[in-house]
Amino acid sequence: MTMLTLADPPASDLDPFSHEMLDNPFPMHAELREAGPVVYLTRYDVYALARYEQVHASLVNWQQLESSAGVGLTNLRRTEQFRPPSLLLEADPPRHDAPRRVLGQILTSRSLRRFRESWFSEAEALVADVLSAGPEFDAVTALAQALPMRVFPDAVGIGTEGRENLLPYGDHQFNAFVPTNDLGRNGEERGSALLPWINAQTSRDALAPVGFGADLAAAADRGDITPGMAAALVRTMLSAGIDTTVGGICAVLCAFATHPDQWQRLREDPSLARIAFDEAVRWQSPLQTFFRTAAVDVRIGDVAVPEGAKVLMFLASANRDPRRWDDPDQFDLSRDPSGHVGFGMGIHQCVGQHVARLEAEALLLALARRIRRFDLTGPVKQHHNNTLRAWESIPLRVTLD
Ligand code: HEM
Repeated sequence: MTMLTLADPPASDLDPFSHEMLDNPFPMHAELREAGPVVYLTRYDVYALARYEQVHASLVNWQQLESSAGVGLTNLRRTEQFRPPSLLLEADPPRHDAPRRVLGQILTSRSLRRFRESWFSEAEALVADVLSAGPEFDAVTALAQALPMRVFPDAVGIGTEGRENLLPYGDHQFNAFVPTNDLGRNGEERGSALLPWINAQTSRDALAPVGFGADLAAAADRGDITPGMAAALVRTMLSAGIDTTVGGICAVLCAFATHPDQWQRLREDPSLARIAFDEAVRWQSPLQTFFRTAAVDVRIGDVAVPEGAKVLMFLASANRDPRRWDDPDQFDLSRDPSGHVGFGMGIHQCVGQHVARLEAEALLLALARRIRRFDLTGPVKQHHNNTLRAWESIPLRVTLD
């Protein structure tokens, strides 16, 4: 029998949540990948994984790497939170099973077909509105935020008042996964302040008779979940469903603004729209990181990670690991991006991924019908968030047919 010896991981004092790293994390990812399969981050007392193999293996290892102690830096067992834990994201089997099954059934690509026509015409109308105001606009507000804000809150079935709270609420939630820096502290404060408004949207009386919220209420009537779970799942959708999709749409628009040849390919073959979105999710990873907690002593690579330790998975780095991807820094429509971990992997893999894909497809096809070329008119600016890769500005000029 061969005995494998366990090693101490290399240590690094890099701070992945500093503004400098959030602005451009890719060189840090390369450094961490090269340092080893597991790197101990001294500032945070966490075990970081930046290679595809270990990130993928950890995402599917829910038995040893749990989510219920929190998917952020904080160990939820030891610290009080400003909101109750998410029924899905911050739960392990068996508690995760029933709510996941119910929401999964509501959000299959098949059940989303009922929205296809209306989301495609909303996208068409949005593009017409934007172009009627001239060829120059900021793609972040004009397109990437505008489309999800037009279609998603209606699909959930929430009221129209206060919807401007949705983007900041999501932004703060994703910052709060790392509560120790300026972004995180702000995240907890603003998140608490907006929570009463969010909670008011989740009550059955406040929800439209048709939509994801109503579907969840119907599942509660059938006894598949409790009414309290139905309300909590509406809250989960409102926090997880918008800023993420906005980031994905920003990523794909940035990709086409900087790769005009790829835009040409998409225009010649619009069936590439779906691949384009997934390739952009791989290339930029709108959701950069998630944590797990070691439920037992667990071996990752050649490192023994002790029970109770926090493990930081760099999804974004796995998505550009040259051990897994050819020419990983290139946005390339010839690639098969399947297997990327931008939507996670395993039992927590994004339950809303088909929602994001449908929105992106609707927008890309509406743009492809009118726009020959995108050009940047100034620098692209990132919006810093502890968990998301987000954009503040993508200034564009478009050339029409
Ligand atoms: C481009 C857009 C999106 C990206 C990149 C994204 C990414 C992710 C990732 C990486 C996970 C895995 C979390 C983990 O393993 O701990 C996840 C889970 C989740 N996502 Fe998304 N997401 C997106 C859009 C959405 C949308 C539109 C919704 C809601 C309709 C949504 C709802 C959720 C929920 C509820 C979970 C938790 C699932 C579970 O734990 O079983 N996401 N997402």
